[in-house]
Amino acid sequence: MKIPSVKGFHDILPDESARWSWMESQAREQFARYGFAEIRIPIVERTELFSRSIGETTDIVEKEMYSFADRDGSSLTLRPEGTASIVRAYVEHALAQHEPVSKLFYLGPMFRRERPQKGRLRQFSQIGAEVIGRDDAAVDAEVLLLLHDLLAALHIRSAQIELNSLGDGACRPAYRAALQAFGEAHRADLCENCQRRLERNPLRLLDCKDHDCHAATKDAPLMIDHLCGPCRAHFDAVRGFLTREGLEPRLNPRMVRGLDYYCRTAFEVVAEGLGAQNAVGGGGRYDGLVKALGGPDTPGIGFALGVERLILSMAEAGATPLRPEVFIAPLGAAAESEAIHLAHRWRRAGVRVEMTGGGKSLKSQMRMADKSGARYVVILGEDELAVRALTVRDMTAKRDFPRAVDLSASADGLRAALAQLGHEPVEQSA
Ligand code: HAM
Repeated sequence: MKIPSVKGFHDILPDESARWSWMESQAREQFARYGFAEIRIPIVERTELFSRSIGETTDIVEKEMYSFADRDGSSLTLRPEGTASIVRAYVEHALAQHEPVSKLFYLGPMFRRERPQKGRLRQFSQIGAEVIGRDDAAVDAEVLLLLHDLLAALHIRSAQIELNSLGDGACRPAYRAALQAFGEAHRADLCENCQRRLERNPLRLLDCKDHDCHAATKDAPLMIDHLCGPCRAHFDAVRGFLTREGLEPRLNPRMVRGLDYYCRTAFEVVAEGLGAQNAVGGGGRYDGLVKALGGPDTPGIGFALGVERLILSMAEAGATPLRPEVFIAPLGAAAESEAIHLAHRWRRAGVRVEMTGGGKSLKSQMRMADKSGARYVVILGEDELAVRALTVRDMTAKRDFPRAVDLSASADGLRAALAQLGHEPVEQSA
C-alpha cells in the first residue's frame, strides 16, 4: 500500500527546485548588498515563545500551531514564523553586546495548520529579514527599499507594497477603545467571528473577509486618523524617504496584520496570480517585542515573503534546471569502463556529465540523452575505442562528427572541441 504525503505538506520536485535555488541565490545577493547576515534558527521552539509574541488572540496562536507535548511534558511548537525565534536568539546570545544593530536574514520552512488551498499550505517557506536596534524612520525606509529591490530581482512584476501605521503605546489604546465602541454600536451587523473578537482583538474587525461584516465597518474609525504626533511624524518621514527614491507604496488604512507584535510602520505586499491569497509578504515594526521576550528595550523591524506565493506570481521562470553539457553513450563492457573513467575525469574538472550503463542500445541511450537536454552526446563504441577518439553527436544540428574529441582529452580540450563543432556550418539541404 502506498503512503501518501500529509495534507498541506508538499514535495518540491527537481523541475521546480531549480527555481527555488535561483530565488534563494537572488535573495542572498540582495541581502548582501544591504549588509544583512544569515541567521539559522531552529524549527522547534517552546510554545510560550509564540503565544507571548504573536499574541494569544491571533488565529495563528488560537488554532494554527503544530504544538505537541515533549516526553518531559513541556509544550513545543513547530515555528509558524521566524521573527519570534530571531528575537529569542538575539536576547539569548546578547547580540546587542556584540553589535549595535543586528541585520539578519533567514530562509526556511514555517508551519501553520490553515485550510490548504492555492498558495496556502501547512508547511510553507519564508524569506525574511529583521533589523534589531534602530527605531528611526530612515531604517524603515531602507527595509522597504530592500523589499522593493528584492521583489524586482525575483521578477515579481505585479508586486505592490501597501503601507499603514499601527500607532504605538501612546495612541493605540485610545484608538482601540474608539474602534471597540464603534463595533459595539454595530454588533448586530458583524459576523459571528468578529462579534467574538470584539472584546479581545477589535483591530481584526478591519480585515474581516466576510462581505456583510466588511460593509458594516465601512465607516469605522481608522488608526491613521488617530496617530499621536511622534507616530505621525515617523510615518510622514518614512514616506518622504521613499518618495525621493521613486517608491510610492499604496496606503491601506485598513491593514492590521495578523500578528500582535506590530507598532507604527506596517506593510504587506500584494501581487497577482495568487487567487484568494493575495499577500506574498508582510512585515512591520515591533518595538516592544525584544522587551516582551525578556531582553532590553530594543526596537525592531522586518518582513517575510512566502516562497510558494512568490513562485505563483513570478513574471517569468527565472531559472530552469541545469542541463548536462555532454551525455556519454558507451556501447559494450569495455567502453563502459572507459566511459566511467572519462566521466569522472571531466566531472572533477567541472563539466556537467550525464551517462547511463553501457548495456543499453545506442537508440535507447539517444532517447535518454535527448530527455536529459544535453546538446552533445559523446559516443564510445568499439570503433572509437580502436582509434582512441570519440564520435560526437550534435543533438540540435542532428549531425555526427567522427573522431571529434580525443579519448584522453582534458575538460578544456573537450570544451574547445565542442565549441568548434558548434560553429561548423550546417549543410543546406537542396
Ligand atoms: P505573515 O504575514 O504572517 O508575517 O507571513 C508572511 C508571508 O508568509 C505571507 O505574506 C505569505 O506569503 C506567507 N505565508 C503565511 N502563511 C502561509 C501559508 N499558510 N501558506 C503559504 N504561505 C504563507 C510573518 O510571518 C512575520 N513574521 C513577518 C515579519 C518579519 N514581520 C516582521 N518581521
